[in-house]
Amino acid sequence: MNSKNIIIIAVLMILGSCTNDKQSDLEAIVCVDTFIYSDCIKTIIEENCTICHHSGSNAPGPFPLETYDQVRDAAENGNLLVRIQLPDGANGIMPQTGKMTQTKIDAILNWVNEGFLE
Ligand code: HEC
Repeated sequence: MNSKNIIIIAVLMILGSCTNDKQSDLEAIVCVDTFIYSDCIKTIIEENCTICHHSGSNAPGPFPLETYDQVRDAAENGNLLVRIQLPDGANGIMPQTGKMTQTKIDAILNWVNEGFLE
């Protein structure tokens, strides 16, 4: 095998290892550069919150987090930022199922700090 083939195989192995990352982490990485609601904050909320915080009458969560306005209001006027940053396992941590990765939390904080880009 010549060295060119070895390089091609090495590149393929590197590319292959990326696709093994969790899909949700990749989406969060996309978010790190943009912090725009429709680009990725929406996805983070949909993956972690709306299973409980939806507008159906049987929703476990006390309010829906389905639209830009609802998420912005919970972050700006409610406890969203406090709840997502509690220690993992603490009473009241959101999502209730376990704290999100720091990448996702930071993405939401950056979105807030940069003025809730829609
Ligand atoms: C497994 C269901 C579930 C998931 C997933 C979930 N929540 Fe909740 N959430 C609840 C319930 C039930 C309550 C009401 C009890 C309480 O306040 O802890 C609540 C309360 C809250 C509150 C407090 C409201 C207040 O009165 O101050 C906030 C803010 C919140 N959730 C945000 C989120 C966010 C943001 C996510 C995703 C990152 C999320 N939740 C994911 C079930 C959930």
